[in-house]
Amino acid sequence: MSLVLKRKSIRKYTNKVIEDEKIQELLKAAMQAPSANNQQPWEFIVVDDQALLTKLSEASPGAWMLKNVTKAIVVVMKETEKSPVMAPQDCATATQNILLRATELGLGGVWIGVYPKQERYTYIEAQLKITKGHAFSMIALGYPDADETVTLRYDKSRVHTNHYQE
Ligand SMILES: Cc1cc2nc3c(=O)[nH]c(=O)nc-3n(C[C@H](O)[C@H](O)[C@H](O)COP(=O)(O)O)c2cc1C
Repeated sequence: MSLVLKRKSIRKYTNKVIEDEKIQELLKAAMQAPSANNQQPWEFIVVDDQALLTKLSEASPGAWMLKNVTKAIVVVMKETEKSPVMAPQDCATATQNILLRATELGLGGVWIGVYPKQERYTYIEAQLKITKGHAFSMIALGYPDADETVTLRYDKSRVHTNHYQE
């Protein structure tokens, strides 16, 4: 099965710590993402401090799994002059690249939504001392606790030819 069809959100992990080389691979994948005007409006914070991870797990109701991981990546969206309105899409592609590469490396991860929810990004920025740009997303990472089966979602009725049909 192709990589994109294998990916799914993983929220439960074993205790095995992710090797630094694998984190490096995830970051390489992130920076290979397409971006508007190739503006690459991103920075990445690898968080491996347990106290910080626990703090980040309180950023939103959907961030709880961060208190159970040993590593996470926070995508930071930088200010950019080239194509600022496209920056969120650029950071989304980088986030997805991390998740896909994680799947390929036998890791599991989940995208924790941050931007544009102000109360979330201001909280995270305070924890991580981000003074420029905004926290965009957080990715909890670990070795999957169990083999999760993927439900395929392809739905022919959502595909239209030439014109949209109700
Ligand atoms: C923008 C965005 C925000 C998300 N935020 C959260 C979140 O805060 N917590 C969480 O557990 N999952 C989050 N997810 C993961 C979705 O719940 C998940 O992708 C969706 O249910 C489909 O499941 P799948 O990823 O296993 O295919 C988010 C996904 C996206 C794209």
